Amino acid sequence: MSSRIIAVEPFDLVVFGGAGDLAYRKLLPALYHRHRDGQLPTEARVIGVSRRAMSDADYRAATKAALDEHVAEDERDPAVIDTFLKRLHFVPVDAQAEAGWDDLATLLKSGADRIRAFYLAVAPELFGVISGKLGAHKLVTPKTRVIIEKPIGHDLASAKAVNDAVGAVFDERQIYRIDHYLGKETVQNLMALRFANALFEPLWNAAHIDHVQITVAESIGVEGRGGYYDTSGALRDMVQNHLMQLLCLVAMEAPSHMDADSVRDEKIKVLRGLKPIGEAEAPAVIVRGQYRAGAGGLAAYTQEVDNPQSTTETFIALKAEIENWRWAGVPFYLRTGKRLPVRASEIVVNFRKIPHSIFEVGAGAIEENRLVLRIQPDEGVKLWLMIKDPGPGGMRLRYVPLDMSFADAFGARAPDAYERLILDVIRGNQTLFMRRDEVEAAWAWIDPIADAWERSRDTPKAYPAGTWGPSAAVALIERDGRHWQDEMG
Ligand code: BG6
Repeated sequence: MSSRIIAVEPFDLVVFGGAGDLAYRKLLPALYHRHRDGQLPTEARVIGVSRRAMSDADYRAATKAALDEHVAEDERDPAVIDTFLKRLHFVPVDAQAEAGWDDLATLLKSGADRIRAFYLAVAPELFGVISGKLGAHKLVTPKTRVIIEKPIGHDLASAKAVNDAVGAVFDERQIYRIDHYLGKETVQNLMALRFANALFEPLWNAAHIDHVQITVAESIGVEGRGGYYDTSGALRDMVQNHLMQLLCLVAMEAPSHMDADSVRDEKIKVLRGLKPIGEAEAPAVIVRGQYRAGAGGLAAYTQEVDNPQSTTETFIALKAEIENWRWAGVPFYLRTGKRLPVRASEIVVNFRKIPHSIFEVGAGAIEENRLVLRIQPDEGVKLWLMIKDPGPGGMRLRYVPLDMSFADAFGARAPDAYERLILDVIRGNQTLFMRRDEVEAAWAWIDPIADAWERSRDTPKAYPAGTWGPSAAVALIERDGRHWQDEMG
């Protein structure tokens, strides 16, 4: 089964940082896939921009090499690649000076009526500068959109400054703040599961749910991004955005419609309902870790970033609570880290115990129901149930999953998040993008946590690379009589 492909309107997508890592690794491969599926109209152009002196031909050659590296072999069709490359152009522009802007304006003039999207795949310090230049050069038409990505600030004050600078040129309706987790299939499936089925919603509250676990585990280390990561750490790099967005989708009320503002209005209520964690609470509900050297020659974080004194966390586990009627008293345990044993992201919704067992002790233990949403890899949904062990013997109970793997069920290639998100920008659909107030509300919750650490003398707890983080993270949840569900191996 494959989904319907509906072509989008003609557009010009201008990628600042067009010769950078994100463009080559993610954006151009994503566009190639949409081209291959016939979703891009003939006129659509992709215009790479950077300070580099590159011709169209150079850019096409570099993109071809990038597709060879980042698109699976059986999805690379030489004839299709050729037609895709013809869409590409390159304009050298100095984002911080005057060189090149007139050339860009000239090229864009030939598509003046089209949808125009500026993707700022550059350092966040340049978001405001480039927006200003786009305004000054009159490149912002009514059909123009701008796409920016995290980190949007380092704290609430700096996030506001970025939002102000971009907002001085673009209207909020034109600003698309990407959190690529929202483009992942299973993350969107969470909304389908919750709001297209009558089954779960009546149970989706503190009366029936004991707790929720959200884990985003990565096996990689900092992979050459040490310069950025060492000033960020897991709290800012992953929790402030990806994990909090997942939490919002699990916890939000049903929006009245699936339009952008209805969904975002509900998400922000969750963010504002989060119980603050400050200096007094942090030690009991947060564990920070940093990987040291591990088995198989895995280097320590401090070696990877070449900063022996670094106290940046590469792991964090925390217990969050939402202060509202639906969720009062239900902990949300969040956990993310680098150099964990596997790459696996899951949301586990743990239901409450049955109130009374009618079975004899010999029938076996009765486990609580669990709904597991596997975000990656092996996207799917599992619902853990108690059943009778088949056979003529006495009543024996067994805990088994109703297991749906999306790959098995649909046989489809899981599209990359960027394929969905870039085309949503062209379609003008902001549902999966963060509104200004969401980003700022998330920082407003994160700032006191980060401040508490800065004031405390605590250093992150060491864990060997390739393990599930410091033992204190296990203690964090076990103190509450619960345990992490690590069926991810
Ligand atoms: C990015 C973080 O936003 O997400 C990275 O900056 C992290 O540190 C990445 O590795 C994880 O994304 P994914 O899609 O590989 O789970």
